[in-house]
Amino acid sequence: MYPSLHLNLGEAYRRLSGHARARAHLDQGRAVAALADDGYGRMIIGGLERLGWRGLSRTGGNGLVDMIEHHPDAAFGHLGTPRLILRRFVPDDLAAFVEYRCDPEVARYQSWDAPFSVESGERFLAELATAHPGTPGEWFQFAVCRRVDGVLIGDCAACSTAHDPRLVEIGFTFARAHQRRGYATEAVGHLLQYLFTAQHERPPAHRVSASCDVRNVRSAGLLERLGMRREAHHVESAWYGGEWTSEYTYAQLRREWFTQRSAAP
Ligand SMILES: CC(C)(COP(=O)(O)OP(=O)(O)OC[C@H]1O[C@@H](n2cnc3c(N)ncnc32)[C@H](O)[C@@H]1OP(=O)(O)O)[C@@H](O)C(=O)NCCC(=O)NCCS
Repeated sequence: MYPSLHLNLGEAYRRLSGHARARAHLDQGRAVAALADDGYGRMIIGGLERLGWRGLSRTGGNGLVDMIEHHPDAAFGHLGTPRLILRRFVPDDLAAFVEYRCDPEVARYQSWDAPFSVESGERFLAELATAHPGTPGEWFQFAVCRRVDGVLIGDCAACSTAHDPRLVEIGFTFARAHQRRGYATEAVGHLLQYLFTAQHERPPAHRVSASCDVRNVRSAGLLERLGMRREAHHVESAWYGGEWTSEYTYAQLRREWFTQRSAAP
C-alpha cells in the first residue's frame, strides 16, 4: 500500500508524491511529507526523524502527520554587516554581557531582573556553547560585536517553534552606550535576512514574530522600522516585575520581507 522508501530526503519526496496515504510536496525548496498515522506510516516517520526531519502539527482531520526536513544550523560561524559581526558567544564575552544585563534600563522590559549575576551569565554562556541556531524549541543568542574593534555591544536571539520550526520568534538587547546609532536596526535586519534564507540545511523561516511591552517604544520602533506588522495588542497578558503587562506582537512573512526589499526569495 505504501511505496517502499529508501529514507533519503530526495527519494522520500519523489516516492511519496501522489501516493494515496502519503503525500509530499516542495515548500520553499524543502521537502514536506504527510504520512498516515498508522503502523507503516509511523515506521517511515521514525526513519525520517532519524534523518533530522521534524513532525509538524496534524492537519485538519485527514489522519496524516506532516513532516518537514529540518536541521539546526550546526555549521553556523558568523554573520557580517557593514559595521557589525553577529557570532557565537565566547567565554571572554562574560564581563561585557553581564554588565549590560545589569543595567536596569536595559533589563526594564526583559525576562530577567537586574542585577544579573556573573553565575547566571556563566551558566547562560555555557549552555550556548553547545547550542545551534534553528534548534526547534530552543532560543539561540547571537553576540553582536562592532567590526572596527570587536567590542560586544549587545545580542539578538531567535527561537524556532518546537512544533513547526518555520515559525520563528526573535528578541534583542543592546548596551545603553551603543543604542541610538542604528546598530540594532542593522543587526536585527541582518538576522531577519538570515532567518528568511535557508542555511546549511536549515529551512527558511516562513514567519518571524516578536513581542514587546507596549511601553517599550524603542523596541516597537525598531520592529516597525524593519517593516514588521503590529498584529496584536494583548492586554495584561504577561506577569513581569510584579505587575500585569500588556504586549504588542509584531510579525513578518518571508514573502513580505523579500517583496519589501524588491529581491526574489
Ligand atoms: C530595543 C533597542 C534594541 C532599540 O535600540 P535603538 O537604539 O532604538 O535602535 P538602533 O540601534 O537601530 O538606533 C536607531 C536610532 O539611531 C539613529 N541613528 C544614529 N546613527 C545611525 C546610523 N548610522 N544608522 C542608522 N540609524 C542611526 C536612528 O536615527 C534612530 O534614531 P531615533 O530612534 O531617534 O529614530 C534598545 O532600546 C534596547 O536594547 N533596549 C533594551 C532591551 C530591550 O528592551 N529589548 C527589547 C525587548 S522586547
